Amino acid sequence: MAQKFVGKVEWPVTVQLGRGMEGAIATETRIGYVDGEKGWLVYRGYNIFDLAEHSTYEETAYLLLFGKLPTRTELDKFSAKLTGYREIPGKVIDVLKLLPKEVHPMAALRTGIAALGCYDRKADEVTPENDTEIGIRLISQLATVAGAVARIRAGKEPVAPDPKLSHAANFLYMSTGKKPDDFTTRVMDVSLILHADHGMNASTFTCMVINSSLTDLYSAVCGGIGSLKGPLHGGANEKALEELLKIKDIPGAVAYVKDAIENKKKIMGFGHRVYKAYDPRAKVLGKYSEKVTEMKGMKHLYEIAKKVEDEVIAAYGGKGIFPNVDFYSGTIYYALGIEVPLFTPIFAVSRVAGWVARVLEYLPDNRIFRPRAAYVGPLEEKYVPIAERR
Ligand code: CMC
Repeated sequence: MAQKFVGKVEWPVTVQLGRGMEGAIATETRIGYVDGEKGWLVYRGYNIFDLAEHSTYEETAYLLLFGKLPTRTELDKFSAKLTGYREIPGKVIDVLKLLPKEVHPMAALRTGIAALGCYDRKADEVTPENDTEIGIRLISQLATVAGAVARIRAGKEPVAPDPKLSHAANFLYMSTGKKPDDFTTRVMDVSLILHADHGMNASTFTCMVINSSLTDLYSAVCGGIGSLKGPLHGGANEKALEELLKIKDIPGAVAYVKDAIENKKKIMGFGHRVYKAYDPRAKVLGKYSEKVTEMKGMKHLYEIAKKVEDEVIAAYGGKGIFPNVDFYSGTIYYALGIEVPLFTPIFAVSRVAGWVARVLEYLPDNRIFRPRAAYVGPLEEKYVPIAERR
């Protein structure tokens, strides 16, 4: 599987600016790089295929935060810290229990993180050292909150974290109450690695904009969760799977794509602002989807998804539209028995590492984000008293 990424990245590049800040360069970074033409994703110089094959989420999070692969001692220390931070205040669980039962888990997650911030007396001490500590705690505790949200949603009591389990295994355990087998743990670990960072995506940029006012990191991560929740971003994994579940067979997959093309509907899980080649994360997840669906007796779900992919690429591949990370991830989670509304929280459990890493990288030389909008409205309107308005 491993594909080599070679060469040197040259900046500046000539970019075409467009709506939605298309092409705009927000900052310099050493954290990660997406080459949309070649279909490359790199974290700190390491290609995503190598990391998905050999790394763990804990090691990847360390790499993103501290810029190097950890030694055994460094990794053990970092993992112990993540494990040690897993417990959250009981009052935060109480807040989650007060929410309406039908609330979307991403809204509950956002509320849980907001509540967590209220219990951190040092939340507003904005220094690189303190924010690094809060960031590590958030990477750990976001999984705990997501697990508690899943349990409360199912009408069950949250389970206490198990310090003997890895981040991925413990997250699955806290979500389901069952200790996962090694294969399921590895599938979740790979998914967490693949989703951990991705340039100036909407949620990461949101976190950076929020933090650039030197507010607390909890506020930034709440903003990130809010942004990720949307169907054009992380929420696409839920929408894509919902669409796939409506398709009953291969002719249905052909008809689904035909209808979307004829009616100019967006096909969820396809397209990307930066990738105009195949998203490397979808390459890895597509292979896992085939394997996991087969193991769970749901191969038809993969076959339908693959047919949708083939049809979309036949129609739109020339335009640079290919599956993105959100297309196959849902088929994997669904085959593992995870409920659809819990898909986007999994994305957040992973991406929090990228959010924190990017915020911390920007902080020492912080400058508030403050772009402008091109005003195209009138200038000389006459003020009319309310009684005279029609
Ligand atoms: N299905 C059909 N056509 C599409 C799709 C799609 N999924 N995505 C883009 N296009 C077309 C679009 O209609 C437009 O065509 P034309 O130039 O003829 O008007 C062209 O491609 C450019 O699309 P855009 O919406 O202007 O592109 P964007 O860069 O603003 O948006 C995107 C990127 C990811 C929001 C968009 O591709 C999309 O809405 N995809 C579906 C939602 C999705 O899967 N989101 C997950 C993104 S990846 C991971 C993540 O962020 O969570």
